[in-house]
Amino acid sequence: MEKPADSFYRQLPKVELHAHLNGSISVATMENLISRKPHLNVQHSMTAIHKGQHRTLGQAFQAFKVIHQLVDTEEDILMVAKAVIGEFAADGVKYLELRSTPREETKTGLTKRMYVETVIEGIRQCKQEGLDIEVRFLVAVDRRNGPQVAMETVKLAEDLMVSSDGVVVGLDLSGDPKVGHGKDFVPALQKAKNCGLKLALHLSEIPSQKEESELLLTLPPDRIGHGTFLHPEVGGSQSLVDKVREKNIPLELCLTSNVKGLSVPSYDKHHFLYWYQLGHPCVLCTDDKGVFSTELSQEYQLAASTFGLSQEAVWTLSQQAISCSFAPGPLKEALSQRWVSLRPQVFR
Ligand code: IMP
Ligand code: ZN
Repeated sequence: MEKPADSFYRQLPKVELHAHLNGSISVATMENLISRKPHLNVQHSMTAIHKGQHRTLGQAFQAFKVIHQLVDTEEDILMVAKAVIGEFAADGVKYLELRSTPREETKTGLTKRMYVETVIEGIRQCKQEGLDIEVRFLVAVDRRNGPQVAMETVKLAEDLMVSSDGVVVGLDLSGDPKVGHGKDFVPALQKAKNCGLKLALHLSEIPSQKEESELLLTLPPDRIGHGTFLHPEVGGSQSLVDKVREKNIPLELCLTSNVKGLSVPSYDKHHFLYWYQLGHPCVLCTDDKGVFSTELSQEYQLAASTFGLSQEAVWTLSQQAISCSFAPGPLKEALSQRWVSLRPQVFR
């Protein structure tokens, strides 16, 4: 991890809505995983992009392959889930929506259901241990696995939504955006929506996905991940922007991930500014805090220093994220109260 953020940003109560579990593993936890599986010969440079380094999205996806080899048993998943939640809590995150792709591993006997149930168990244990963070889970569909697996994943998510006592709240569509076409996933996404799962979809993460974005926006999603190439200044279109605004769909924006992953040329060119100036709901997120060596407090500080946001504006940004979450009404209300009670110590 790079230099920790200043205390205002660390103390700021925060909402994290876009965090992939296996992309969020810290160096310390990675150390532990590597020592459990020395035969894999994994070096830290294979799983994290440090300060000043950049990788293409394709190279970043290589890192996930390596990480998945390190996290392939129930024991690993429980340890990783608890560590990641603990780190977000230590960074001042009060509400977290974690997402992860159910994975089976024939070698270790892990099934997709066991995978998700283990993450849910990690979430429960953190709550029982009194961690000051509320956590919900989004089941992820990896577009590389095609529409049939997507449909199976939706069925699993539906089951778990019912049995997890409100922990599973939604579905994510992610994975290498260059692979497959969004139209193939519409039936599965529609089914998820119909059964009450909220949809958080990676959208226009790369250029030239206008047609796909147009189609997926008709669902519509409840939140958009990245949306980097939606607006006309970067080859998107006014009609896409109009649709997103009309339906008031919040954007999950991940500055470091986009700059280090080379989809945005520099921080000051990040599309945060475009949408923020329109007054559109924007939520700062980390995406993969482990792979991109960041923390949510750092993302807030980066946005403030890059776009000249006052502390008051930063506060409002973090507070407004509550309404963009998939938390049920009473929890949103409780979080809003929490922000009010924490304010004096943040602005002290
Ligand atoms: P996991 O789902 O917990 O295993 O987290 C890693 C997975 O998240 C990757 O294999 C991708 O499918 C997905 N992912 C992480 N970051 C990104 C991104 O920036 N774009 C699209 N998919 C991503
Ligand atoms: Zn993502």
